[in-house]
Amino acid sequence: MESILEIQGLTKTYPGGLTALDAVDLEVRRGEIFALLGPNGAGKTTLIGAVCGMVRPTGGSIRAFGLDMARDWRRARARIGLVPQELGFDIFESVERSVRFSRGLAGLAPDPGKIEAILRSLSLWDKRDAQIRMLSGGMKRRVLIAKALAHDPELIFLDEPTAGVDVELRRDMWRLIGGLREQGTTIILTTHYIEEAEEMADRVGVIDKGRILLVEDKDTLMARMGSKEAVFTLSEPLHALPPDLPGLSLSLGEAGRSLCYRGSGADADGELAELVQALVARGIRFSALDIHESTLEDIFVDLVENGG
Ligand SMILES: Nc1ncnc2c1ncn2[C@@H]1O[C@H](COP(=O)(O)OP(=O)(O)OP(=O)(O)O)[C@@H](O)[C@H]1O
Ligand SMILES: [Mg+2]
Repeated sequence: MESILEIQGLTKTYPGGLTALDAVDLEVRRGEIFALLGPNGAGKTTLIGAVCGMVRPTGGSIRAFGLDMARDWRRARARIGLVPQELGFDIFESVERSVRFSRGLAGLAPDPGKIEAILRSLSLWDKRDAQIRMLSGGMKRRVLIAKALAHDPELIFLDEPTAGVDVELRRDMWRLIGGLREQGTTIILTTHYIEEAEEMADRVGVIDKGRILLVEDKDTLMARMGSKEAVFTLSEPLHALPPDLPGLSLSLGEAGRSLCYRGSGADADGELAELVQALVARGIRFSALDIHESTLEDIFVDLVENGG
């Protein structure tokens, strides 16, 4: 698939000497939702800042839409939308004027119909004349999103878009992001809500201490690194594991009243099916079966703790 963003050897050392990005290579494909995960201070906002022109890289190169950001920054930037992590804009401006201004900044002609559609999609139309300072935090975040969409960007960065927003707005955001993706917009988001990445992302990148630890297709990642645990509650206690069960990772629970299976990777489903058949064939009855699958969060914590 065509790449929309190519980052090579990107390094950022801040004046104090802290290296926030350490030779980052990253490629994002046109039309995908890419989730960048990493703990606080990992370098996510710095990476976004480097692409969007707020952070001057110490080394490396960034190409967006095939344009070299160091040379063609203005042209490339006009095609990028950014929803920043920090709320920092003109709080005395009205909602609608602020969003219109963002469109103008990208050098596009005014389009009141477009601005209205964006404000309506974010439930901001009724607030269009309100000064931004009068809005609640969640509403301000909606304004940031509206501003980022005002110039029809092909590539959008959402830096912690749902930090501190309520469940309803988070759902709205997911819907909005899904809709953008359907229109072909490429989305790069950072989030601490890993279930958000699990829900939406096509690919996932994990960054820690300025280094990319992994980039992988989400489904592949979860199939490869995910683990499955199944606990059978036995109708009759077992005193020992049946010696003739296939070579699976099994253990007995307290007083032999439960049987626990652990598997990992792509084989786990098949193994579990095999185990159920084996138990039935041996007349070992069970009254309940609880299955726990690891989430992207488990995988993420594991990766960051063990340094990949
Ligand atoms: N302007 C700056 N000057 C010096 N150091 C900075 C500056 N901005 C960020 N840093 C440092 O760079 C590192 C990466 O910060 P960054 O904001 O990119 O992390 P992040 O992954 O976005 O974290 P979070 O999840 O908390 O938003 C941190 O150690 C941070 O303290
Ligand atoms: Mg950040």
